[in-house]
Amino acid sequence: MGKALVKPSKDIPPILEREFRDLSKYIVEITGVKLVTGKENLLESRLSRRLGQLGLNSWREYISYLESGIDENEKQVLINLITTNKTHFFRELPHFDYLKKEYIPERFKDFHDKEKTVFIWSAASSRGHEAYSMAMLLDDEICKRSLQHNLNYKILGTDINTNVINHSQRGVYPGIEVEGEVPTEMVQRYFLKGEGSNAGKYLISKNLASNIKFRYHNLVDPHSMLNVEFDVILVRNVLIYFDRKTIDIVIKKVCAHLKSGGLLILGHSEHLESVPKELTYMGSSIYKKT
Ligand SMILES: C[S@@+](CC[C@H](N)C(=O)[O-])C[C@H]1O[C@@H](n2cnc3c(N)ncnc32)[C@H](O)[C@@H]1O
Repeated sequence: MGKALVKPSKDIPPILEREFRDLSKYIVEITGVKLVTGKENLLESRLSRRLGQLGLNSWREYISYLESGIDENEKQVLINLITTNKTHFFRELPHFDYLKKEYIPERFKDFHDKEKTVFIWSAASSRGHEAYSMAMLLDDEICKRSLQHNLNYKILGTDINTNVINHSQRGVYPGIEVEGEVPTEMVQRYFLKGEGSNAGKYLISKNLASNIKFRYHNLVDPHSMLNVEFDVILVRNVLIYFDRKTIDIVIKKVCAHLKSGGLLILGHSEHLESVPKELTYMGSSIYKKT
């Protein structure tokens, strides 16, 4: 019988306190994601298998492997395994209600005097639900107002996890994530229902997808800047993983990309402790740049 290539994860000993500290330090440096004491199990459950795949016998060996830089790709493999990507369509509805009832009527009023393209950045877009939900909302509002020939929108979705970027670019979602979460008339208009081997899946329509791009972007990398200004920036449910200092740096960075009058939208549990002076709080974790 041939030798097993993948070592079973049960062979990896539990992570020691010192190893946990060193590995968490490495992770926070490359992602901003802070793993506090007590998250040892999370780290072990997500990474033990990977150590086995690499034929490594201890956490210390894995840390040395990462730090040696022998394998440039391993950093990204670690990021893909360690980031939490929970998301869904139209998550945190009050944000979409605010955009529909407050922001869009104002933005689309007298649009002749304003820019005709609305630019949106979903800045930790995970598997794409947030960006596509924004696209459905905007497309719907533009159609309802019969402004298709005059107004346009462009959405950029970015994330640090390359697996979720690939998933977003494919735009294929299981039925359970679409039915019930997306209003029925939007499902009919913006998705194609899979048939045959694709039964039970939905594909985002080409028309909608043509307004959206997904790219790699690390919010905590000071060299990773975009040369665009946005009308709306969503940084939702990612700041919860960062410490205060990192949050301040990230907020400063995204604010630099926000147009005057534009909105910064955070997750519902992500209130800012120090609010930059150019931002005014509008309620529901929404800030306006004045
Ligand atoms: C819980 S998901 C939130 C997705 C979406 N914004 C939502 O609210 O449903 C958090 C996402 O942040 C991403 N992330 C974590 N650290 C990041 C960083 N430094 N730069 C960019 N994205 C990051 C993760 O990969 C993950 O996809």
